[in-house]
Amino acid sequence: MSKRMILSLLTAVLSLGTVMADNIDEMMKSMTLEEKARLLVGVADEDYEPGTAGHQKQFVYGAAGVTYAIPRLGIPSTLSCDGPAGVHIDSVRPGDSRRYFATGFPIASCLAGTWNAELVENVGKAMGNETLEYGCDIILGPGMNIHRNPLCGRNFEYYSEDPYVTGVIGTALVKGIQSQGVGACPKHYAVNSQETERFSVDEQVSERALHEIYLRGFEKMVREAHPWCIMSAYNRVNGVYAQCNKLLLTDILRDDWGFNGIVMTDWIGKRADLPVEEAVKSGNDLMMPGYPVQIEDILAAVKDGRLPMADLDRSVRRMLEFIVKTPRYKNYRFSESPDRAAHAAITRQAGTEGMVLLKNNGALPMATTGKDTIALFGVNSYDFLSGGVGSGCVNVEKVVDMVSGLKAQGIATTPTLTDIYQKYVQYARVKLMVDKNPLMWFLDQGQPKLDEIEITERCIRHEAQEASAAIITIARQAGEGIDRQIDGEFTLTDLEQTMIQRVSDVFHEQNKPVIVVINSGSVIETVSWRDKVDAILMAWQPGQEGGNAVADVLTGKVSPSGKLTMTWPVSVYDHWSTRNFPQDYDMYSYQRLRQRNRPIKGITYTNHEEGIYVGYRYFDTYKKQVAYPFGFGLSYTTFAYSRPNVKLRNDVLTVSVTVTNTGKTAGKEVVQVYVHAPEGGMDKPEKELRAFAKTRLLQAGEKETLTMEIRKSDLASWSEASHGWEVASGDYDVMVAANANDVRGTATVKIK
Ligand code: BGC
Repeated sequence: MSKRMILSLLTAVLSLGTVMADNIDEMMKSMTLEEKARLLVGVADEDYEPGTAGHQKQFVYGAAGVTYAIPRLGIPSTLSCDGPAGVHIDSVRPGDSRRYFATGFPIASCLAGTWNAELVENVGKAMGNETLEYGCDIILGPGMNIHRNPLCGRNFEYYSEDPYVTGVIGTALVKGIQSQGVGACPKHYAVNSQETERFSVDEQVSERALHEIYLRGFEKMVREAHPWCIMSAYNRVNGVYAQCNKLLLTDILRDDWGFNGIVMTDWIGKRADLPVEEAVKSGNDLMMPGYPVQIEDILAAVKDGRLPMADLDRSVRRMLEFIVKTPRYKNYRFSESPDRAAHAAITRQAGTEGMVLLKNNGALPMATTGKDTIALFGVNSYDFLSGGVGSGCVNVEKVVDMVSGLKAQGIATTPTLTDIYQKYVQYARVKLMVDKNPLMWFLDQGQPKLDEIEITERCIRHEAQEASAAIITIARQAGEGIDRQIDGEFTLTDLEQTMIQRVSDVFHEQNKPVIVVINSGSVIETVSWRDKVDAILMAWQPGQEGGNAVADVLTGKVSPSGKLTMTWPVSVYDHWSTRNFPQDYDMYSYQRLRQRNRPIKGITYTNHEEGIYVGYRYFDTYKKQVAYPFGFGLSYTTFAYSRPNVKLRNDVLTVSVTVTNTGKTAGKEVVQVYVHAPEGGMDKPEKELRAFAKTRLLQAGEKETLTMEIRKSDLASWSEASHGWEVASGDYDVMVAANANDVRGTATVKIK
């Protein structure tokens, strides 16, 4: 027998019992109804608590979800772990002295702040590699919801208030992750704009805003990056749960955008008001984390005809197509030892590049002599927050705090203050765990924020004698399930205001600068205090290398090149959406109200009354003053833009501009292209971002020509009259800008 014959015989024998990419239809015939039903329902651990992540104890401790295995058909269980800031698994395993740490990458808003798709793709590759090497098949990310309002508790897991930025950065991350042979699962599709009552809130949004704002980023990513999975959101969209929303899951996602992966629910059990078959019929293939009762429900629904067999089979086929792509199916021998040193380097680079310099009166970069001592204020200088809390946290080995970050670059911190804070941090960590409210389950998931302490004026005076400058860290923590409060979370607390005032008074008396580092996943109020300090750096939660990344920017090792992907308002009330955003939610009173079964604004339903006027689209069109505009970010150098050159050929606008580094230090610049469209019978925002690009590192005097393309179809608005995209005829102003309020050059093109 020839080699080839042996091979084909072997293949034939093997294929009898094993699902393969090319025999799925065949194999489905040999599956029992129960096997099919089970394949659509995850296998949750018995002690799994809904709403918490990292509770799986099968296969990989702390992974978020497992699918059903059918060994007789060669179908393995597949595993998903949380993202989106890295692989979320438990670091401790019972009976095992080894620790399983993953890399804490920068949070999503920081990644987007780089405006550097190539860099984000590299982060994705590292994340994908850790997913693979820790034995998982999918990472549950990126989070691609829109920052509708700064108070949303999960904004840190999302990219921007703008769908184009969301689409570009999301595409890059998904491509990077999937290049490693594992799947990405972008989430939460769609309109998961708030955390308050997230399991059921009805997000009421106009057809136009749905398409233009909330879906457009997902659309770009699906079309360009082909994710293996999508996670449907908990909430309802216009009355219908996202997980059984046929319009979203089938008509738009699959029929229109061509998605061919699986849709899984967000982590929830059986819903009292939603039969599971409705989810399957609408295009939601997998119920996660999965409960046995859902299997029974599917079986009953097939038996009594509520769920057509064809619908069940459609989802089963998609599940099998997905499974045969996974590392577990391919028997990949994972190492549990990804190259974390290399990934830390990528984290540091991305964290540094995502930081945004908001103010600088010349205090930065710090003049370093090699013998400098800094007085470091604020608890989170010593307990730096690398990421948010909840499912989106990562169990990292160590977070580099600012003391270590500065020290590594030859900058000491004043000993007394360092001692006070370091001892306090030790005490406060223990106290927090003892005192913790059991409802705050997420305190075990990531780094909770420790309370700030008061530093007396006498102590500040003592420190000012020894230090050449003061750095104050203002930090915020947030996570899933809870939106942010206005008082003391969006705004500063009295203690923080006093700290800024006292430190500034004392240090300025001695002509020493005061620098504020913001260590937060989201926007905070700045206008009431920013005039008191010399420089402000938005450091986000830049991942485990935090202190090193901050030091890179403060010392000028790297010139800041990040820009904001969301508007910073003067007051949170300035956002139109704040009129319809839950505030000061008290879970207990609402539970009582809900029992009366009455709709409650902002709680059981949220009207997106602002429509498309989210973020800069609102502030810009309605000429509202802001603290820092969308796209804003300072550098240690300056850039000059040439006149933009805009050409229209074959329905593609090509925009080019030459950027010259006119300052004295090397730096990178992000160039944004906004378009003002003719009305065409529709209400249009003043301008909308349609393209952007970032220069390479330009040395002083160096220039680079950036060329960006905008397809005519990218200029379209959604018409509620025709239920489709429309490009209005007329003159379009194409603006090349450094941020939404700093247009450097405009060209006009006529579009028919
Ligand atoms: C979150 C998801 C997460 C899932 C699994 C849910 O509570 O909303 O983002 O992926 O848990 O941990």
